[in-house]
Amino acid sequence: MNRPVAGMLAAVLAACTPEAPATPGASDATGPDGEAVAALPTGAPEQFGFGTHASEDRIALWDIDVKPDGEGLPPGSGSVEEGRRVYQLSCMQCHGPTGTEGPNDRLVAAGEWEQWPQGRAFGAFWPYATTFFDYTRRAMPQLTPGTMSNDDVYAVVAYVLHLNGLLAPDAVLDAESLAAIEMPARDRFVPDDRAGGPEIR
Ligand code: HEC
Repeated sequence: MNRPVAGMLAAVLAACTPEAPATPGASDATGPDGEAVAALPTGAPEQFGFGTHASEDRIALWDIDVKPDGEGLPPGSGSVEEGRRVYQLSCMQCHGPTGTEGPNDRLVAAGEWEQWPQGRAFGAFWPYATTFFDYTRRAMPQLTPGTMSNDDVYAVVAYVLHLNGLLAPDAVLDAESLAAIEMPARDRFVPDDRAGGPEIR
């Protein structure tokens, strides 16, 4: 190993050196909030000197999944009319003026749902409107996901439902009204309750 690399390695190792001395034996360790944690094996350091405790607030930033029945939908609301503005600013360049053109995925079906691919779009083929909220909030706009407010997500979901002929032009969506929407494709899917694993082998 040449000297500069050895020097860098020594520096990296120094950065990882535990702040606390190695425990002489198994200990009754406590976590950052004083909670009891599993005893450490003999010789393991108490702390490694990096990382921070994942607080409730930090976890909440990642814990954003929305269930089909609407569990997990945040407070807020948005109208079809507000959604038109959001769509034109943030979605139209990739999904087209009416949601059927692309260049990316269709958000509005351009044919019967049985037709592939033109019929297999959100309004005709997704069993739950709540999934559109979940997906848009976590993944869209594709180049800047996570930047939209909850109100803007409600609004754009309302507008795309309107483009699909599933919501009136003066409608407003919130957690309750979004979860109550019955999509036409609801009965085109069945829950997959097949068993899998050791019990069927
Ligand atoms: C920069 C381009 C771009 C922008 C802007 C964009 N999208 Fe997308 N969108 C995509 C691409 C690409 C896909 C396909 C992603 C994939 O399949 O992994 C997609 C897929 C989707 C899907 C899934 C469609 C399906 O049937 O699978 C939804 C819903 C969606 N976008 C909603 C939106 C909404 C709402 C906005 C505006 C807030 C938006 N997108 C903005 C590029 C974009």
